[in-house]
Amino acid sequence: MNCSPIQPAIGDQRSFIIQGRRRILICGEIHYSRVPREQWAAILDRTVELGVNTLAVYVFWNFHEEKRDVFDFSGDRDLVHFLQLCHERGLLVILRTGPYCCGEWNYGGFPAWLREEEGVVFRTWNKGFMHRVEKYFKHLYAEIVPQLTTNGGPVVMVQVENEYMNIAKWYGEDGERYVRWMVDLARELGVDVPLITCEGGVPGAIECLNGFSIPEERIQKLRARQPGLPVVWTELWPAWYDTWGAARHHRDARNIAAAILEFISRGGSGFNYYMWFGGTNLGRTAMYLQCTDYGFDGPLDEFGQPTRKGLYLRALHRALTACGSVLLEGEVSVTKEGGGETREFRLDGKRVVIAAQPESAVRGGDAALLPQARISLDGEVLFDSLSDWDACTPPVLPWNTIAGLTLTGRCPEPMPADRFDEPVRSEMPVEQLLLTTDRSDSCWYGANVEFKANGTHQLRIPFGADFLYCFVDGCYCGATKTPLREWRGPTLRQPDRKQSACAMAEQEWANEAEQFIPDGFLHEFAFEAGPGPHRIDLLATAIGLIKGDWSIAGPMHTERKGIWDDVLLDGQQLTGWEMRPFLRGEKNPVAWAEGGDPAARLQWHRFGLQLNGSERGDFRLDLGGWGKGMAFVNGRMIGRYWLLEGNGYGPDAIWHPKNAGLYAGPDGEPTQRYYLVPRSWLKAGENEVVLFEEQTPGAGIQLQQRNQE
Ligand code: GAL
Repeated sequence: MNCSPIQPAIGDQRSFIIQGRRRILICGEIHYSRVPREQWAAILDRTVELGVNTLAVYVFWNFHEEKRDVFDFSGDRDLVHFLQLCHERGLLVILRTGPYCCGEWNYGGFPAWLREEEGVVFRTWNKGFMHRVEKYFKHLYAEIVPQLTTNGGPVVMVQVENEYMNIAKWYGEDGERYVRWMVDLARELGVDVPLITCEGGVPGAIECLNGFSIPEERIQKLRARQPGLPVVWTELWPAWYDTWGAARHHRDARNIAAAILEFISRGGSGFNYYMWFGGTNLGRTAMYLQCTDYGFDGPLDEFGQPTRKGLYLRALHRALTACGSVLLEGEVSVTKEGGGETREFRLDGKRVVIAAQPESAVRGGDAALLPQARISLDGEVLFDSLSDWDACTPPVLPWNTIAGLTLTGRCPEPMPADRFDEPVRSEMPVEQLLLTTDRSDSCWYGANVEFKANGTHQLRIPFGADFLYCFVDGCYCGATKTPLREWRGPTLRQPDRKQSACAMAEQEWANEAEQFIPDGFLHEFAFEAGPGPHRIDLLATAIGLIKGDWSIAGPMHTERKGIWDDVLLDGQQLTGWEMRPFLRGEKNPVAWAEGGDPAARLQWHRFGLQLNGSERGDFRLDLGGWGKGMAFVNGRMIGRYWLLEGNGYGPDAIWHPKNAGLYAGPDGEPTQRYYLVPRSWLKAGENEVVLFEEQTPGAGIQLQQRNQE
């Protein structure tokens, strides 16, 4: 184990120089927040074994300051312990401290309570926002400064903000000032290692690039902007994330390897797989629509097992490591021929050649012709993107069902009329986050109505989120149509938008909003009812907060859940609302009973299982046949589940390149059927699995186990 102090990295146009040595940063992104602490060491061991020498790590603000002014860096949130485990294994770390991270994490990392700060606008020059950032950063940086390489730790670089370029035009000069302030703040708080940004630069930090591949033109533009500095690829996407209702994303590994070799041959000195190991959105940590599995079709799967992609890339990492000094210090010459490119590097009698062709005769997972790239040292081919893939055969690790998981009780979640808690009463519906501060997905909205005659009635909710169930007189009469859209447009009507957006960017926001299909938050229900009094109840379920401004074509603080605007019943405004946030079962002990209606909606289901404690390996629940809800193991929430059928690639298809080896499929299967159970959450003796099912219960559930390699 290597624990010796590391000197700060210095950069020039060829690479960073770390410990007096140039090395290619072969970097993998891992979020400690997406895997319990007990698994950290094993995942890092596998990472090192697969030839990765650096980690990139997002630090999510809402993971450490979930409650305002309560800072938690213990247990699963013990960032310093994670960093020490990296250090013991000789891994360098690039810490991506945000405070805005994105990462398909709830609210891009922002705590939901931040919305309640007076006059707050996120990610720009705004007093309320910056005051809270500063306060949090004082706590965060007190943890991490001792972990910088300058203080003997593994943190070699720190990233501030994230892809600011995507929103810079909306925040104008205020935005620029804010990003500069972020750099100054990091320095003031003691960060003396290089600061970096990705996709968007700021004086005092090294700008890095993100993409599926990095074309030569982008490298040249970056070099022109920041001469004399290394070119680093901070996010190389090995596939894409998965959202409920879309098919699973994949990327052909051969395409990834060719893109890496091309980037390095063109002078790139470091790349980061985003994600290397994606992990799980445990609890309610997923962003809007992101499913619980964050595996990302990565080199390590959701359980931390090397995939074929991972084993194949190990061969590439070994080749790059063997050639590192020649690639980063050698004399370079280039030959271009027939669309292909060969670069030769010479140093001290050694010769490395990277030869790349944009098209081979082999078709990839998306049926397109694959590129081919190979690297050789002194005439010996160390890695060939096509033949190494064929040579790579990972072991098959079958899943086995653990017998004995049986139903031990049910309990219906009551309709609002059967609840004893006092509702919040108001003429107009009150927005859900104002009532929950995002501590629950659920909020009931109810109103009494009176009809004069028999008829069909139309309920129209122009602004509701995310997924609503409608009940009339306690009877179910419909739910929101699926699939939901990831980008839904503004949460606010035109006149209200003006007040919420920062004045600077008003026109820009308006332009953005124009591009969205209208009615992104519209829900409509129809029902029959006779004359007399009736009761309408709507259960709003949130599915995570957005990750960025673009999802709602407006500033992030204008995120909304539940119902927050006029509701129309047969064209007339419906008033006199009662709101009941939270499920009863979330606030009170669930009263388990035997029997009950096995098919009823909105019901808690409990299962029991004896384990002897000697079980090893990976565990998952098969929830095939169930509907939508939340899953818990021994009192802790695994995550949201939804067996919604996934079809198509999703909205990102419009900007994802056609030649990157990306594809989605198969269509027609649930986006996520299997749900990881953290091994450390299981125990010897009686174990409990609880599902809160909103729709139709399945016939049963299975706990499955797989041995590790
Ligand atoms: C990037 C972003 C990451 C992650 C990724 C998609 O644009 O910086 O945080 O969201 O996209 O997986």
